[in-house]
Amino acid sequence: MGPSRVSMDSSLRWNDGTNLTFYTALMTSPNRPLRTHVVPYGKAAIDQAARLIREGQPVAVPTETVYGLAADATNPDAVARIYEAKGRPGFNPLIVHVTGLDEAERIGTFSPAAKALARTYWPGALTLVVPLWRDAGIAPAVSAGLPTVAIRCPAHPVMRDLLAASGRPLAAPSANASGTISSTTAAHVVATLDGRIPLVIDGGPTALGLESTIVAVDDEGLRLLRPGPIDFAELAALARLAAGGRPRGIEAPGQMASHYAPAKPLRLNAAEAEPDEWLIGFGEVAGDDSLSATGDLAEAGANLFAALHRADRTDRPRIAVAPVPDQGLGAAINDRLRRAAAPRQATG
Ligand code: TXA
Ligand code: MG
Repeated sequence: MGPSRVSMDSSLRWNDGTNLTFYTALMTSPNRPLRTHVVPYGKAAIDQAARLIREGQPVAVPTETVYGLAADATNPDAVARIYEAKGRPGFNPLIVHVTGLDEAERIGTFSPAAKALARTYWPGALTLVVPLWRDAGIAPAVSAGLPTVAIRCPAHPVMRDLLAASGRPLAAPSANASGTISSTTAAHVVATLDGRIPLVIDGGPTALGLESTIVAVDDEGLRLLRPGPIDFAELAALARLAAGGRPRGIEAPGQMASHYAPAKPLRLNAAEAEPDEWLIGFGEVAGDDSLSATGDLAEAGANLFAALHRADRTDRPRIAVAPVPDQGLGAAINDRLRRAAAPRQATG
C-alpha cells in the first residue's frame, strides 16, 4: 500500500477517546471501519500524530530499532488501544519511551548501575527494566501490574519529535500484530495493523532492524531479558564498574517466552534448500535471498525481518535460513531466528 494523504476527515475523529466499549466493538468488527493513513515524516505528520496521541489514539512511528506503536503511557484508554490493536495479551508489559534520564527517573528508580547504563547508551537501543514509582502516573496496564517498568530513550528523530510534540511518555511495543514479525518499514506495519490504527508515519526502513537489548537492573545486579543490538558483556562490564567493582548478580538466563513468527515453518542452520523451501542465505550460502552476501552481521540484523516478510510472500510453503555465527550481533539475530522457528504463540 502506498502512502495516502492525511485528511481531517471523520475517520480520524470517529472516537473522542472516551468510549472504549464503542471503540473495542469497532476494532473487533470484521468490517474494520478505521482508515489507516500512511504519511511521510515531516512537521505536518508530527503535528497530526501528537494530536492523536493527546486524544488517546495509538500511532505507529519508526525508531532506530523497529517501528513502534506509540500511545500516551499516562492514559489508560490509550494504552488499552495498543493492546487491542495488536491483539496482545494483557500480561505482556510495554516499554515506556522517554526524552532522557531526567524523565526516566520520574517513572522508575535508577540504581548507580542503571544511571551509568542510561548515561552511556541513551539515546539508543537499550531498554532498562527498573522498579516502578507507584505514583509516577503510568497507566497500570503498561507494566501489566508488575512492580517494574521497562524504559527506553530512543535515538530516532521521528520518535524523538513525537515525544517532544506530545509532551507525554509514550508506551510503544513493536508495531505488528501480536505474534507476528516486527516491522522495519511502514509497509510492514500496514501488513498486520491496517484498519486497526489511524496513522503510520513513514520514516523509511529502520537502521538496526532488531529490537532493543533489554536488561533488568536493580540493587541485586543485572539480568539480560532480551539480546539486541547492544552487547550484554559490554553492559555487564559497565554495571560492575558503576557498582564499585563488587561481584554483583549478573546473569543472562533463558529468554522470555515470546515469539516472532513468520506464517510458514522455518528451518534453521540450512546449508542448502529442500525443493519446497525458500532459502534465506548468509555469507557464502547464497540462497534465494540473503541477509548479507558479505557476511556482515549489522547488515544481516537490518535485513532480517524484511527477509522473513519477503519469504512469507513467496509461493514456497517452507522457509530455511543459512547458519549465522553466534558472535556479537549474531547472538541477537539467532535469538530472533530461534523464536521465529518455534511454535507460534501470540505474546507480543
Ligand atoms: O526496540 C524496541 O524495544 C521496540 C521499539 C518500538 O522501542 N519495542 C519493542 O517492544 O520491541 P515489544 O513490546 O515488542 O517488546 C518489549 C518486551 C516484551 O517482551 C515485554 O515482555 C518486555 O519488553 N517487558 C516490558 N516491560 C517489562 C518488565 N517490566 N519486565 C520484564 N519485561 C518487560
Ligand atoms: Mg514485539
